[in-house]
Order: sequence, then structure tokens, then C-alpha cells
Amino acid sequence: APDTATVTLHGEKPGPVYDRRIFTQFAEHLGNGIYGGLWVGKNSKIPNTRGFRNDVVGALKELGVPMVRWPGGCFADEYHWREGIGAQAKRPVKINTHWGGVTEPNEVGTHEFMDLMDQIGSEAYISGNVGNGTPREMAEWVEYMTAPAGSLADERAKNGHKAPWKVPYFGIGNELWGCGGNMSAAYAADETKRYATFVVAPEGTKILKVASGANGDDYTWTETMMRDAAKQIDGVSLHYYTMSGGWPPSASATEFDEAGWAHTLADAERMEELVAKHSAMMDKFDPQKKLFLAVDEWGTWFAPEKGTNPGFLRQQNTLRDALVASVHLDIFAKHADRVRVTAIAQMVNVLQAMILTDGAKMVKTPTYYVYEMYKPYMDATVLPIDVKSPWYNKDQWTMPGVSASAVRDKAGKVHVALSNLDPNKPVTVGVALGGVSASSVSGRILTAATMNAHNDFTTPNAIAPAAFTGARIDGTTLTVALPAKSVVMLDLQ
Ligand code: AHR
Repeated sequence: APDTATVTLHGEKPGPVYDRRIFTQFAEHLGNGIYGGLWVGKNSKIPNTRGFRNDVVGALKELGVPMVRWPGGCFADEYHWREGIGAQAKRPVKINTHWGGVTEPNEVGTHEFMDLMDQIGSEAYISGNVGNGTPREMAEWVEYMTAPAGSLADERAKNGHKAPWKVPYFGIGNELWGCGGNMSAAYAADETKRYATFVVAPEGTKILKVASGANGDDYTWTETMMRDAAKQIDGVSLHYYTMSGGWPPSASATEFDEAGWAHTLADAERMEELVAKHSAMMDKFDPQKKLFLAVDEWGTWFAPEKGTNPGFLRQQNTLRDALVASVHLDIFAKHADRVRVTAIAQMVNVLQAMILTDGAKMVKTPTYYVYEMYKPYMDATVLPIDVKSPWYNKDQWTMPGVSASAVRDKAGKVHVALSNLDPNKPVTVGVALGGVSASSVSGRILTAATMNAHNDFTTPNAIAPAAFTGARIDGTTLTVALPAKSVVMLDLQ
């Protein structure tokens, strides 16, 4: 007989909003994340709009990507915005020192990125250069993008964009403890205050400033940033990758056994503890939760795909990655009072990507489909839940077998997400619908016969969501037959 789990929904006690920016994407100048994956140039045979490939833009548009973080990552702290404006042919060609030592043509600069945001329908989250830039350079970039008048606005108009752009979120450097300058927390907090002082939004507009945050469990970093710089910033970031076995990442993205499955999911579950503890640290200085925690880099980081430039961080994406994504999105629901921005790394062709391309070909990954299934969560209200789940364990890896979350969208419809992390056993989930009245349920499921099912260029539709018919409502109980290794999204009516 299948295991049983119980979930209790507290529809009568609605929680915080699940900010749509939890679904932010990250697009760094890294490998084929930008060049090849998004940008092919106006003269490419690959169908494009002003240089951005139509297939990828179309797929991202369907996902409703709310915001994109750009241009890095580590790349941000060596990026000089002036090198990416004006006639493309005259822009300097640089070396991308962090990522494969390849040339960076600067073909995609501010104007192109903002055009991409218009094409996708996303907001911009710009990462400024603290590492080897100056406060003046940062201030002038912000003025160039946002000022309604003045000589930088005139220069922007001359370069093709008269109207100011909106920059709702701005990062004050990236990983200042590492590639952003190898700073101590106290020094980074001082630099953050200094740079943030000169990031000034035009009258009547707002730019939310995000401090470079901790690496994993470095709670002292968050404490120092909050203690010293909280007045100058609106949010603090946190980076944590699911690496399954330390640095440098060596586990295969596709070739793994059940221990590899369990190890990865246990590492993903660690986000719960990290977010809880960083949030608690922020509470010490900001009990009213005015500042947000921006988990603006997370996701799986496996060994590079065979035959690719290791600096390009290209990896396949399987059903296991899909579960990593759903586990994170459920954890963020629990902490949505503090976690109001997150960005999975990265959008196209890099790490845990939504989309993989190869020349003119494109596939949607299992992670893409999880994002598609969770779309109703954007700006919905979180409904608190209690979960009693059987444990799933393999070797030393132990975790709750069922991950869950629930929201009520603006139209009043309730959506319940359930994932079964156990790759072998189905589980029957009884959901007590407290404060929720519904009489019918429909849904979608993402699963496959094997743990490492993935989409490649020969079988692009090996794994995709299907209609789910394993749920029924009886009075105030929703009963769900949740197959092994699956992600299910239910829509109640
Ligand atoms: O996402 C890849 C890299 O990981 C980013 O550039 C950096 O911020 C992090 O270390």
C-alpha cells in the first residue's frame, strides 16, 4: 500500500503575497547564456527580432518571466557599461576573465538588454560594478538609464532611446566576498553604503537597492550588512547552489543512481534552514521585515557537459532538477514574508537553465515546466500549511518525502503544489481544506519513467507536463494519489 501524508491548509489565515519576482531569471555574460542562447545578431539565419532569437524569447514570454538579473554574476564586477553603448561595431572586444577566457564582443549592452526586457515583458534587475568600477561610474549608469533630462539622457536618446527606462531593482555588486573583490564583511558593508549613496532614482521613481549577500551559511555576513548598511539598502541577497559534493562541482547532471538523486534533493532542502536563519538574522535589525532577502542565485551546479568549455557551465537538466526547483519554490512560499526576490541560475544554457539551445534548435527543460506549472503563484497569497510526511531516505540522505505549498490567486482560486521526492513509492496525500471551499479539482503532473529523464535535441519532448487525474474532493478533504518522483500542481474550483 502507498505511504500516506497529510497536509492541512489554513485558508482562513492567508499569509503574505508570493511576490512574482520570486520567479526572476538570471542572465549573465557567461558561455552561451547571452551569445547564442538569446542573442544571435540581426543578420543571423535564426529567426530573430533585432538580434534576439524568436523561439527563446517566445518561450520566456510564455513563462511570464517577471524580472531578469543582468549582466552578472561575477561578470558584473568587471563590466563597464560605456563599453556596451553606441555603434556595436565600435564597441571594445574584451576578455571574459571569469568564464572560459573567451572574447566578449559587447554586442549586448544596455540598449539591447532593455529591448530584450520589452520583448519578454520583464523588469530589469541591474547588477552594478563595485569590484573594479567606481561610485561615479555606477551613478552615471543609473542616470544614463533612468534620467528624464540632462546630457546622459541626451546621449541615451542619441543612441536610440529617448524615454528613460525603469530600473526597479539594482544590485550593489555581486559576491563581494569572492569574485566581486574578496572583501571582508565589514569592508563590503562600508563599500555598499558608499556606492548605494550614489545610486539615485529620478524624482517620483524608486530603485530598490540590493546588497551583495552571503555565501550559503555565512550568517555573520548578513549580520554585518544589516548592522552597518541597512539604512542604505532595501534588500540583502543570498547565494546558495545545490552542488551535491562540494567545490569544484563534479557530480554528473544526467548519470546518477538513487544515492545521487537523494544527495541532490537533500542539498536542495538545505535552502529551508538557510532562509530561516538568514531571515532570523535580518529580524534582529528589521523586525518589521521592511528589507527583503533576495535569493538571487540558486539552483543545481553539476559537472560541465562532456565536450563543452568547462568555463561555460553548461549542463543537462533532468526530472531531478525539476524536483529541486519545486522544493525551492515551496520553501520560498513558507518564507514569502521575507523572501521577495529569487533568481534561479541561469535562464538559458547555463547551470539549471529553463532553456537549452544548440545552433537553431531549442528545448525546454523539466525546470522550465515547473516554472510554467507554478505560474499561478505569481502575486498570489500564500496559504499557510502543515505537512505531515513520511520520510524518504537513501544511504545517509534523509528528507520529508512530500514537499508542498498552497496559494490563493487574485481571482480567488486555490492552487496546491505537491512533490513526491521518493523515486520509488507513490504516496496518498490527504489535504484538509481548512477555510477553502472547493468542489472540483484539476491539475497537471510532471514525471517520467526514469529519474534522469531529460529533453535533448533528438528527443525534445521526452518529459513534459501532462493532465493529472489522480485527485478528488470529498467535502472538505482533497485526496491525491501522488506518483513516485513527481511534481503536481492542482487547481481547485
Ligand atoms: O552563476 C554562476 C556564478 O556563480 C555567478 O557568476 C557568481 O555570482 C556565482 O559564484
